[in-house]
Amino acid sequence: MRNMTVKGDRLWDSLMEMAKIGATEKGGNCRLALTDLDREGRDLFANWCREAGCTLKVDKMGNIFARRAGKNDSLPPVMTGSHLDTQPTGGKYDGVFGVLAGLEVLRTLNDVGMETEHPVEVVVWTNEEGSRFAPAMVASGVFAGAFDLDYGLSRADVDGKTMGEELKRIGYAGDEEVGGREIKAFFEAHIEQGPILEHEEKTIGVVLGAQGQRWFEITVTGQEAHAGPTPMPTRKDALVAASKIVTEVNRIGLDHPPFACATVGMIQSHPNSRNTIPGEVFLTVDFRHPKDETLSQMDAALRAFCEKLAADGGFELKLEEIWYSPPVEFDKDCVSAVRSGAKAAGFSHMDIISGAGHDACYVSRVAPTGMIFVPCENGISHNEAEEATPEDLAAGCNVLLHAIIERAGIA
Ligand code: GLV
Ligand code: MN
Ligand code: MN
Repeated sequence: MRNMTVKGDRLWDSLMEMAKIGATEKGGNCRLALTDLDREGRDLFANWCREAGCTLKVDKMGNIFARRAGKNDSLPPVMTGSHLDTQPTGGKYDGVFGVLAGLEVLRTLNDVGMETEHPVEVVVWTNEEGSRFAPAMVASGVFAGAFDLDYGLSRADVDGKTMGEELKRIGYAGDEEVGGREIKAFFEAHIEQGPILEHEEKTIGVVLGAQGQRWFEITVTGQEAHAGPTPMPTRKDALVAASKIVTEVNRIGLDHPPFACATVGMIQSHPNSRNTIPGEVFLTVDFRHPKDETLSQMDAALRAFCEKLAADGGFELKLEEIWYSPPVEFDKDCVSAVRSGAKAAGFSHMDIISGAGHDACYVSRVAPTGMIFVPCENGISHNEAEEATPEDLAAGCNVLLHAIIERAGIA
C-alpha cells in the first residue's frame, strides 16, 4: 500500500475536462448551482462514476453519492467529496478538486483491484458556494441536521427561483432521504484558497478546523428623489448610507487582527437610475473569525453602527443575520490520518486552520471528519485566475488515498 499512488495526469485531465463546462474567457469557471451548466457537470461526474463501476444515489437536496462497494457492504461508508458549483467568476479547482480527487481514489483502487472492508463513497454536495442561493453549504447542512429539508429546498435566488424548483428542473431532485445514516469517516480535499502553504513552502495542509462565519443581509431605505432639484442637505440617499456601512464593515475587520475577515460582497441599489437618488439599497455582510467570542464582538459593532446610522440620518434600516456557522474543530483521528498520509508519502506538511467554509464543516457534526489542503498560486481563489500545480493536486490526492484506505481497511 505504501507504494500505491494515484495517477496525477488522469486527475489533471479530468479537472481540465470538467473545467470546459462553464469555462470563462479569462480561464476560470462559471457553473452556478442548479443551472444547466451545473447539470452538465453533474452528468459528466455521474458518467465517470458509472464507468468506474459505482452505484449512484441522489438525495432530496440533490447531493450525489457514488458508491464503491466494500467487502462488508453493510458497514458504514468512508466518504469523501466536495462541490461542483462555482462562484460567478470562479476557478477550476475550488470544490472540483475534492470531488475529482475522490473519483481518482476510486479509479486507483480499481486499477490495483484493492477491496476495502468498508464501502467508499464520493459525494457531490449541492450549492456549497452560497452565491446563487444563500447560505453556503446548505445541502451538507441539511444532511447534517443543521437545517431542515424545507428550509433547504425553499432557498431562493435573486429572481425568486427556489432550490427545490431548480433541482426538479435539472433532474437532480432525488428520492433518497437526506442524511440520517452512519458514516465511518469523511475527508475533503481542497485547495487552500489562501497564501499560507505557498508562503511556508509546504505541499500539504493538515486542516485542524475552520473559522466561524456570520452572514447578514441589510436593507437601507431612504427616499428616492430627483438628482437635480433636491438640495444636498435634505437628501436621504440610501446608497450614501450603505457606503458608510461598507467602510464600517471593513474597519471592523481591521479592528480584530490578524484573523478577522469582513466583506461586503453584494450590493443592489434601487432604482439604479443615474438621475434618481437611491431610495433603497440591499447589501450583504460576511464576517469570519476562528474565535466565536470575537465573531460576536464584530456582530455587536455592526449592529451598534447601523442603529446610530439609521437614527442620525432618518433611514429605515433592516439588519438580519441569515447564517451563523460556528468555528469547527475536526476529529483528532481523521486529522492524524491526514498527517500520517503526508508523512508516509514524504510530503512537506503543516497544520492549518481553514479560512473558507467547507461542506466538511457541517459533515463534522455527524461523522468523524478531516480535510486536506494543497497550495494554490498566490493564494488566489474565488477568481478566474485560480491556479494549482498538477504535482500539488496529485500530492493531495495521494494523501486522500492513504487516509481513505486507513479508515476503510484493506479486506
Ligand atoms: C465558500 O466558498 C466560502 O464562502 O467559504
Ligand atoms: Mn469550495
Ligand atoms: Mn468557494
